Amino acid sequence: MFEEGAGCVAVVGVQWGDEGKGKIVDVLAERATIVARYQGGANAGHTVRVEGEEFVLHLIPSGILYPGVRCLMGNGTVVDPWTLLEEMAGLRARGIDLERRLGLSSRAHLVLPYHRMLDRALEASRGVDRIGTTGRGIGPAYRDKVNRTGLRVGDLRDPGRAAEVVRAACSAANDTMERLELDDRVDPEEVLEALEAVRPSFLELATDVGQEIRDGLGEGGRVLLEGAQGSLLDIDHGTYPFVTSSTTTAGGAAAGVGIGPTMIDEVIGVVKAYTTRVGNGPFPTELPGEEAERLRSLGDEFGATTGRPRRPGWFDGVAVNFAAGVNGLTGLAVTKLDVLDSFRELQVAVGYTLEEEPLARFPDSAAELERVRPVYERLPGWEEDTTGARRWDDLPELARGYLERLEQLAGAPIQWVSVGQARRQIIRVGPSRGVPIAG
Ligand code: GDP
Ligand code: IMO
Ligand code: MG
Repeated sequence: MFEEGAGCVAVVGVQWGDEGKGKIVDVLAERATIVARYQGGANAGHTVRVEGEEFVLHLIPSGILYPGVRCLMGNGTVVDPWTLLEEMAGLRARGIDLERRLGLSSRAHLVLPYHRMLDRALEASRGVDRIGTTGRGIGPAYRDKVNRTGLRVGDLRDPGRAAEVVRAACSAANDTMERLELDDRVDPEEVLEALEAVRPSFLELATDVGQEIRDGLGEGGRVLLEGAQGSLLDIDHGTYPFVTSSTTTAGGAAAGVGIGPTMIDEVIGVVKAYTTRVGNGPFPTELPGEEAERLRSLGDEFGATTGRPRRPGWFDGVAVNFAAGVNGLTGLAVTKLDVLDSFRELQVAVGYTLEEEPLARFPDSAAELERVRPVYERLPGWEEDTTGARRWDDLPELARGYLERLEQLAGAPIQWVSVGQARRQIIRVGPSRGVPIAG
């Protein structure tokens, strides 16, 4: 990690989101010059805890709590202007200096009120098959982008063009509402008026994110690309259609900020020591009833964006191995190990069966994934407090054994282990386990 000076490191979620990307990015940001988001929008909720204070970031990269780090939102993100301005105001009110520290790609697409309206309406119309979206307008905003009917940040420089796009989009959205027999409507003139009010402060943030990163790397800078959501929510590689609408995996990082894939030196995959999912969709290692309740309360598993209870389950080695491959992970950061401290016995899925037959791969169909049964391996719990561990050797032997099993299943080396919410509750795992490298 930035040991030899310059470099570009992507940090991606390897499960269904909420792996602790915010915490890991914050830890790594200490040595970064730029942190950039490359996809997603305010559907993300990244929690960073510093000196007892908790910050939940939705659009602003998790490097913002280190003064001097430049934080960028790339062309691959979708940005709701009002959510961003509110998030900025919230940080300023808590004493975080944002002066010249934030930049937003002029190529990023805007999330506008009709996207939120459509998100809610489309979910309602899906009935029992609903995805369980965050309701932040993400799917409809990306749909407009791909459909070539979206509004980009840079379009605000030309109010006439912006008005055309917004009027056409509102008319299409209102038609959809009528077809769905729903009452909500959006008034294009209201949207335009509201946009006009935020236009100056918004355009002030506009920049060429790709150019900034390329220049930064050329000058010896250290860049972190912060993924949102998780690999199993990726639009292509996730459990479609129960996914988000962007490329969450490392392949999307280069395209999402505007650099070449050869410029990314490392890809760190963040995994929880167990699994959670929020929203609907298949989840083979999901725990039932009381067991789920125990893990949920120990891990405080409630959504950082919507407050919804997350669905907890055991670590799924099949899913993580698949995601590790799709991302080309060079290393793993395992989080929330401490949440498992009180368990007498743990389980990890080491394979799946489908109709009693072993299945050699991670299914490409959500319907098939719904029907697989995990093959579990039982591992003894360590039943010791790990929250004070700061070196690999401080961890109980059984905890190290558990982590080594996760590492084997993932097929990527563990580089970081997180044992609590706080910034200092982190273990840097060197190539030879016993010799930690100073973080
Ligand atoms: P993200 O979306 O991947 O950034 O993850 P979230 O912030 O949504 O959820 C992760 C939650 O776990 C947050 O509340 C973090 O503060 C918390 N967390 C992160 N790492 C650890 C850890 O090692 N131990 C514990 N107990 N909590 C952690
Ligand atoms: P972070 O970055 C967990 C889930 C939603 C839903 C699906 C689609 O904090 O890890 P969307 O609103 O994106 O159209 O919803 O994706 N989802 C997340 N789950 N963490 C997230 O972000 C998520 N962002 C979206 O619950 O199932
Ligand atoms: Mg989250």
